[in-house]
Amino acid sequence: MDIISDITEMQNRCLAARAAGRKIAFVPTMGFLHEGHLSLLREGRKRGELLVLSIFVNPTQFGQGEDLDSYPRDLARDERLARDCAVDLLFYPAAAAIYPPDYATFVNVDGPLTATLEGACRPGHFRGVATVVAKLFVIVQPHVALFGCKDFQQLAVVQRMTADLNLPVEIVGMPIVRETDGLAMSSRNVYLSADERRQALSLARALAHGRQLAADGVRESGAVLTALQAMIEAQPAARIDYLRICHRATLQEQERIDADSVLLLAVFFGKPRLIDNGPLLDQAKPC
Ligand code: PAF
Repeated sequence: MDIISDITEMQNRCLAARAAGRKIAFVPTMGFLHEGHLSLLREGRKRGELLVLSIFVNPTQFGQGEDLDSYPRDLARDERLARDCAVDLLFYPAAAAIYPPDYATFVNVDGPLTATLEGACRPGHFRGVATVVAKLFVIVQPHVALFGCKDFQQLAVVQRMTADLNLPVEIVGMPIVRETDGLAMSSRNVYLSADERRQALSLARALAHGRQLAADGVRESGAVLTALQAMIEAQPAARIDYLRICHRATLQEQERIDADSVLLLAVFFGKPRLIDNGPLLDQAKPC
């Protein structure tokens, strides 16, 4: 595995691979890798002849007062895990290289897809995500890029951007990976105290209960949301940012549950904020 920080070198290596007819699979991350990331890398290894991992804690997707400075980082450990997953190239650029002082170009995915959920709670977040993903695509030149379904809205935004800009990249969404007790894997889980972590299991329980209610025939979103809100708020540290039932493609709220319904939630447990999601009726599609 080669570790490359220089943008031009990275782009030249990828352009050469493409010219040689090698299929490039790409997993963009902010590092502090966990099993969720590793599942993307393993799938990428199967799909591509050159497997590229990027580790870049992207400042433009963090808002004022968010955790940019404290975001967990451990390059030595990430390097070991990347080698175990047979990554060919690890791209590890500096923030000043991605965003030099005269940097002025941003990608905005406008409209209802970004006006809701994370986009509403974290203004500017998706502008930062779309911008860095577009830049990484231009540098890495992937044929296929893999994203986790845990960031459900991010995946939808990346799909929209890729289609709108006619980028020749296949976007693959991979299922959420959970701890054995149900907690969705996230680099931010390290922020949770033992007590907050125990309380955070209410999210997976709420998702399971929502699925059960839907399986029992409940179709009124309001009834499901009221029940789940009570479950989550029974945890003293929990503060719900949003809890919604939305259409999987448009992300618009649904009054009635159908095969396209996804439950999406963001909840603070003390200071840490966790997101999670899952389909209510149709379990076949990962995202
Ligand atoms: O999901 C992430 O880790 C980030 O949002 C991404 C896609 C790497 C962009 O910085």
